[in-house]
Amino acid sequence: MSEPLVLGIETSCDETGIGIVRGNTLLANVIASSVSQHAEFGGVVPEVASRAHLSAIIPALNEACSQAGIKLNDVDAIAVTHGPGLVGSLLVGVATAKGLAVSLNKPIYAVNHLAAHVSVDQIEHGEFTEPLIALLVSGGHSSVLKVGNIASDITPLGATLDDAAGEAFDKIARVLGLGFPGGPEIDALAKTGNKDAIEFPRGLSKSTDLARYPYDFSFSGLKTAVARWVQSNPSANLADVAASFQEAVVEVLVTKSMAACKDSGIETLLIGGGVAANSRLRQMAQEKATERGLQLRIPRAGLCTDNGAMVASLGASLLREGIQPSKLQFSVDSGLDVQEISDRV
Ligand code: KG4
Ligand code: ZN
Repeated sequence: MSEPLVLGIETSCDETGIGIVRGNTLLANVIASSVSQHAEFGGVVPEVASRAHLSAIIPALNEACSQAGIKLNDVDAIAVTHGPGLVGSLLVGVATAKGLAVSLNKPIYAVNHLAAHVSVDQIEHGEFTEPLIALLVSGGHSSVLKVGNIASDITPLGATLDDAAGEAFDKIARVLGLGFPGGPEIDALAKTGNKDAIEFPRGLSKSTDLARYPYDFSFSGLKTAVARWVQSNPSANLADVAASFQEAVVEVLVTKSMAACKDSGIETLLIGGGVAANSRLRQMAQEKATERGLQLRIPRAGLCTDNGAMVASLGASLLREGIQPSKLQFSVDSGLDVQEISDRV
């Protein structure tokens, strides 16, 4: 039997994403972003994002079907992000998905955005052999996860105590006078700077902190340190600041996620979420993984930031594992925990 054809709908933040997969094979991945409408505010404006989803979602759906060469009625199941994220934005995707499920009489899976960021690597590198450790780094979350089964078993081992990694990139970009979102801007500027120019603090990395918070992160001290440094060194080389800041974030992310691998005896590390697009993170993780004999899985940058293919990929995993579809009454949940992989109530 051929693998199931799954439509994925993602609208948790500022990207309207429609993806279509057949099993682990990507057939279409259409993304309409409202990022330019938020840039002048230095962050995503929820009302603006919801309205942009409303006007983008049907054209994106049509474009994805045409890219994949399918009709909507061909799909075996629909998967949609129902949390975590912005409530108004999530509602647009969920209402669209429910409308399609009813009119086409197809099963629907309400899925977790965070688990989808992990699942998507199956499109890039093939089906998982679990268990694996996942470092999930995005604009809203930074966690170390133990993935026993992508469809049914995710355990958080650590998380950020304050800012998410992406949030730290976005805030420091603002301090440096760069655009939004800040991650890609810092990544680009850092390439021309010296990462060893300034020794910024590595959060929760002293031995006393490590004993209590082995896999947790904190970026607020680093953020303050960078802001103070820039204030007291007005003629500083900003590329050096960007590179040194980036190094401090990346070093902690890589060190702590690899410690989780070592302590659990798990030999595969997966990195997902928007910050996984960062070139220095990818480079350092690859160097250290090779040194330690770990298998490293990071999807290509275009699959790391929010998209519909990741949602479709998780939907395909749920089908493969025989997980029951969601009941149509499911709602959106802005603070959905990562353990809640799909809504099965
Ligand atoms: O996963 P994502 O697209 O959306 C959320 O679920 O939050 O992640 C967005 C975050 C933003 O904070 C953005 O600055 C960051 O990912 N990001 C990066 C890079 N590309 C995106 N951070 C560092 N380096 C990058 N190249
Ligand atoms: Zn995301």
